[in-house]
Amino acid sequence: MQFRLNQEDSEIAAIARQAAADHLAPRALVTDSGVFPRESIAALGAAGLLGIKIDREFGGLGGSTLAYVAAIAELAGACASTTVTVAVTNMVADMLVRFGTEHQKRRHLVNLTSGRYLAGSFALSESGAGSDAGSLTTRADRHGDHWMLNGSKLWITSGDVAGVILVMAKTDPTKGTRGITAFLVEPTMPGFAVGRHEEKLGLRGSSTVSLSFQDVMLPDTARLGALGQGFEVAMTALDGGRCGIGAQALGMGYAALRETSSILAARAQVDKAQGTDQLAQFRLADMALRLDAAWLLVQKAAWLRDQGRKMTKEAAMAKVAATEAANFACQLAMQLAGAQAFDDSSVIARNWRDVRVSRIYEGTSEIQRLVIARSLAMAV
Ligand code: CAA
Repeated sequence: MQFRLNQEDSEIAAIARQAAADHLAPRALVTDSGVFPRESIAALGAAGLLGIKIDREFGGLGGSTLAYVAAIAELAGACASTTVTVAVTNMVADMLVRFGTEHQKRRHLVNLTSGRYLAGSFALSESGAGSDAGSLTTRADRHGDHWMLNGSKLWITSGDVAGVILVMAKTDPTKGTRGITAFLVEPTMPGFAVGRHEEKLGLRGSSTVSLSFQDVMLPDTARLGALGQGFEVAMTALDGGRCGIGAQALGMGYAALRETSSILAARAQVDKAQGTDQLAQFRLADMALRLDAAWLLVQKAAWLRDQGRKMTKEAAMAKVAATEAANFACQLAMQLAGAQAFDDSSVIARNWRDVRVSRIYEGTSEIQRLVIARSLAMAV
């Protein structure tokens, strides 16, 4: 059993650490004010971090899932808004590799990994289909050798800035989840429109929008995977995505822990009673304990994915444990740091706001528990 990254994965984590320090941290406040991090995305593209697992031939770093989660945690420690944009882009690129044709890979991969596209986007959720993703109603109907797309999507990360959007649509409403197909939609296609920008509690620098499709004509070459394979594409994406969101949450939790430790240490120099307070020390220990335990689950899920093994249950476990540990840590950080953290521009306040959604998006904690429970029932 190995408890450390191999040489190649460590190098990728180091690239992410450097990029976080050079590009994300200095802009984190501006990004948090609601400015989409264009410059940071360009720098991350140049560093290969928009395609961490994508072959170097296509502009990526050719890393493992273990390297991916390590890199995401590094980036999130500096700016979670930028990191979610990066994570979804990596997820779309990963699906192109797994399910795409040569033509689709040549058309989109380098554009994604280089940052030329700014982002990739994943459009599954709808106003009536959030947790119950299979009940989506966006339709793609065959018209000769084309598909006509109609419907709308909600809460779509980077939907307004992405160069390619992975859209799940019903091609046969009589077949339930087996009647869903995935399509690669480009924003220049007539009938594609961006709707409302969400005003969010956190992750304010990432863009979250609704999308609508009115008679968007898609060539059959825009279909990703086989007819009826769209739900599998989405769930496969989310298995990997959930490890990434776990890592993103932990990056924030560790950032809050570091910041709190340094605030308490500084306080200890002037106020011995407060800074060395055993209660505070125990709380810091609890934060570290939960974050480190969850990190092991994230790494286990990532390792299983690298082995090509099914890891749906482990990804769900990793996401619940990591996002709940990170929320716990950010909440305690706020209490321990006190008034200093309550300033909206403080690192702790930002992470406290940003981390909250990690228990909601890419499948709520309740959905993760459902996935875990179902897999236990199957194992009996
Ligand atoms: N991998 C591959 N296939 C899978 C799978 C997986 N992980 N999970 C399910 N499937 C397959 C099943 O094997 C089944 O196939 P068959 O029909 O061939 O048997 C089919 O998919 C249907 O599976 P279920 O019966 O389990 O489907 P369900 O309708 O009960 O739904 C669910 C399962 C887990 C609740 C699913 O709806 C779900 O994950 N919901 C949450 C949605 C979600 O996470 N949304 C996130 C939005 S994206 C986002 O937030 C990104 C962002 O912007 C940051």
